[in-house]
Amino acid sequence: MPHSSTQEITDIILKAANKARQEIKPGQEKSFTNPVKWPIDCLVGPGLEGAIACESEIGYVNGSSGELIYRGYNVFDLCAYSNFEEVSYLLIHGHLPTAVQFKKFKKDLVSYRFVPKTIRTLMSFPVEEMNSMAALRLGSNLLRREFSYVDQRTYRPDYPPISSDEDSIPMETRPMGEKHAIYEFNNGKITQRNNKFSELNSPSGLKSCYQLISGVAAVAAAVSRMRQGHLPIEADPELSHAANLLYMLTGRKPTAVEERIMDVALILHADHGMNASTFATMVVASTLSDLYFAVGSGIAALNGPLHGGANEQVLHMLEKIGSVNNVKDWYQKARSRKDKIMGFGHRVYKAYDPRARVLGPLAKYLVEKSENKRSLELFNVATELEKKVVDTLGVEKKIFPNVDFYSGIVYSCMGIPADLFTPIFAVSRVSGWTSRVLEYLKNNRIFRPRAVYVGQFDLDYVPLNKRKGEKSDKK
Ligand SMILES: CC(C)(COP(=O)(O)OP(=O)(O)OC[C@H]1O[C@@H](n2cnc3c(N)ncnc32)[C@H](O)[C@@H]1OP(=O)(O)O)[C@@H](O)C(=O)NCCC(=O)NCCS
Repeated sequence: MPHSSTQEITDIILKAANKARQEIKPGQEKSFTNPVKWPIDCLVGPGLEGAIACESEIGYVNGSSGELIYRGYNVFDLCAYSNFEEVSYLLIHGHLPTAVQFKKFKKDLVSYRFVPKTIRTLMSFPVEEMNSMAALRLGSNLLRREFSYVDQRTYRPDYPPISSDEDSIPMETRPMGEKHAIYEFNNGKITQRNNKFSELNSPSGLKSCYQLISGVAAVAAAVSRMRQGHLPIEADPELSHAANLLYMLTGRKPTAVEERIMDVALILHADHGMNASTFATMVVASTLSDLYFAVGSGIAALNGPLHGGANEQVLHMLEKIGSVNNVKDWYQKARSRKDKIMGFGHRVYKAYDPRARVLGPLAKYLVEKSENKRSLELFNVATELEKKVVDTLGVEKKIFPNVDFYSGIVYSCMGIPADLFTPIFAVSRVSGWTSRVLEYLKNNRIFRPRAVYVGQFDLDYVPLNKRKGEKSDKK
């Protein structure tokens, strides 16, 4: 990609932000911004729609106006002026860092980029045959093995190992009867959190968050390389988080513009309220399992096509449509089949997703610069499809493009393969997941909603040999 100024990217973001500010009426939804006095009355729909699970100071999604706020800052401003490391610090610590704090934070993140044991162990698995999110989840579990003190302890199973292969790995730690959540090992010393979780914000308590932010990125890059038949690339301590991620993925130091665009994409995906993967992460953490397990659940939840998996599906969909001329027919057929159009709709947004407002113009910028004419064609298919959907479903059901609609085009223009789109989403979301877990655990209560039982009562047990009906074996 020809070199151009990062100021162009900032200008694109500012233009998108101005357009949004002209089109939307900013505001706050009282029922989602006023402090909660438990127990609370709220109207709950299927899929826990409308349910209030906790209070949080981390982020706010205003679904009716289409605004996204991290710790009081509008995401447009963070995209225009900040970077992923600073945003991660903001999410975790609640305020922007001073110069000294920022330097130290970046140094910590860099030190956690090097996860040799994890990568070496990951290489003993058939990663090239695995779903990339499954490999990422496996890698996050291996990070746990490398970093969590529970797995550092001498582990001697009291039954014979299944295999005598010296590479065989106990993938999970057996429950050891820990009374409290365990978040960190501190230079090999066993550190157990007290039951008030007050130490979670201590330097050692934060290490797991930092380690996961850097480690999951290193694992995602290694997974990508291995799936393409290459050896993983060692991190470069001189590069920013975004630039290093691109470097480890592609083997090439990115241009300043590529780095800036990746930074913006990471900022946009860092946090998003109580979405499914964040909720999954928090549910696991609320049982006093640990952050590594919790993040593993987040990765698993994010994988689904209704959530983070949509970005990869969008690109396949655009490829399938093929050309602008096919959009009308394709869309008509999809609508008559009542298909969900990937990259559109959102549980919370009933307005244009602010993240798509930034990613759309960035995708346009990239395809226009790209020498690959196919990406311009796919972008044109995307914009034509957007028009059709917004003119119909937008009017009828307030369905607009979401974060996943343009992110795939952005990533593919930067040489990232489609099966890495969702892992990159996870790389960014680790900041949101871990911040929210830390916040929730300060006043932890295990998540435990109820299901309404609509089954039968008072059935008499029938022995197997007396059961009749089509389910029984007639032989
Ligand atoms: C994100 C999503 C899961 C939200 O789901 P939800 O809040 O449960 O909304 P529902 O699935 O109940 O949809 C409500 C209505 O809008 C329709 N709808 C929602 N998203 C749609 C889409 N992408 N394409 C077509 N119709 C859609 C539904 O068919 C439903 O219509 P109905 O009331 O006539 O039955 C959903 O919009 C979706 O599946 N989108 C596509 C996948 C995607 O892009 N995911 C990434 C999200 S960031």
